[in-house]
Amino acid sequence: MPYDRPIIKVEPPGPKAREFIKKHHELIMTSTHDPENLPLVIERAEGVWLVDVDSNVYLDFTSSVAVNNLGYPTHPEIARAINEQLSILAHAAGTDFYNPYQVALAELLTSIVPGEFGKKVFFSNSGTEANEAAIKISRYSTNRKYFISFIGSFHGRTMGSLSLTASKPVHKKRFYMTMPGVIHVPFPNPYRNPWGIDGYEHPRELVNRVLEYVEYWVFEHQIPAEEVAAVFFEPIQGEGGYVVPPKNFFGELKKFADKYGILLVDDEVQMGLGRTGKMFAIENFGVAPDIITLAKALGAGAIPLGATIFRRDLDLEPGVHSNTFGGHALAAVVAIKNIEITRSLLQRVAELEKLFCERLAQLKERYPLVGDVRGLGLAWGIEFVKDRKTKEHDSKTRNRVVYEALKRGLVLLGCGKSSIRLIPPLTITEEQAKIGLDIFEEAVKAAH
Ligand SMILES: Cc1ncc(COP(=O)(O)O)c(C=O)c1O
Repeated sequence: MPYDRPIIKVEPPGPKAREFIKKHHELIMTSTHDPENLPLVIERAEGVWLVDVDSNVYLDFTSSVAVNNLGYPTHPEIARAINEQLSILAHAAGTDFYNPYQVALAELLTSIVPGEFGKKVFFSNSGTEANEAAIKISRYSTNRKYFISFIGSFHGRTMGSLSLTASKPVHKKRFYMTMPGVIHVPFPNPYRNPWGIDGYEHPRELVNRVLEYVEYWVFEHQIPAEEVAAVFFEPIQGEGGYVVPPKNFFGELKKFADKYGILLVDDEVQMGLGRTGKMFAIENFGVAPDIITLAKALGAGAIPLGATIFRRDLDLEPGVHSNTFGGHALAAVVAIKNIEITRSLLQRVAELEKLFCERLAQLKERYPLVGDVRGLGLAWGIEFVKDRKTKEHDSKTRNRVVYEALKRGLVLLGCGKSSIRLIPPLTITEEQAKIGLDIFEEAVKAAH
């Protein structure tokens, strides 16, 4: 282990960081940056530690947005596999010719994704592309045009997936019209929903309300149910605030969708691959979706890779959809090794879940601005409110906590309107997790 604690030599942003940030803003498209982004210029990284250009060392509780689940810079077994594969084959037009590597990855993915039915895979390079493919598969195979998606969801930023996204209006600013035909409905957020139901106390009531909403307000007033191709969902909403729905939600949603012949598309781009203690987050809810999309962690932080795994009978005809980099041999080898390593980490994630659950529950008891704590495995959301009764969002405190943590050597990311997500690499040790949770509490205290 290269470090055993964060080392802050100069308050971030240090002099070198300021220089890089200035240059970055001169050269890189502004839209990729949120003005509230942390002034963190990462030069290198090792294990769960990020080192900035001023030689500050931070503990990472972000996994670089759920990508570096295996830590940094590259898991040694992945690095070995890459080096070996580079001398054999990296790219050879996987969508025009054949190669054994993508077949091996497809065989692995179709065998581990839930569902006792035949499956096929489409490979791409990112989450948004994986979802674009899911949109096309749903429309083409059902010949239906409409989609249902949830308020608070994030499915990407290209025009199709953007139309499904509903986490922040800025994503859609001046881009109207996106793909028509998407109806957004409330997500069963136990803490904050349109009916004021306490979904932790009354999960069934909350789930029923959501499904009644779709049935009555959507199918009886807006669009015919038999023209809906698919419902897109995140098993736990990520960008929208790390919102965990009631346990029975997806089971009920599945029954509801089956009644109308509507497909279920499970976007596991942020929550998939071990993050929740199961390989796929939907396994926590005991449901087999018709289509699952993956990206982010799939390439182990070494290579960009997306995948859409779908029921075999939904398959498209030749020429209908394709790309250049799909079936990239090197990417396939990385993902195979990654899945093998991730499997060996699932038990550890389940054990660390207890630590996070306990410590964050204590935090909620101690600090009145912490309104809600929710999560599974190593995916935790902490929502800040000005007042526990009114639940008014407190994004200022949230931002202060993120910055106070950075000053103390812990890197965090916000999500939703006033939440913070804690998503350390799955390789984190208990000792490192405790260091991070201690700093997090200090930051919360400082921000109160
Ligand atoms: C759930 C989910 N779906 C899709 C995407 C889009 O992925 P990408 O940024 O790789 O296009 C994201 C990105 O944050 C995501 O969290």
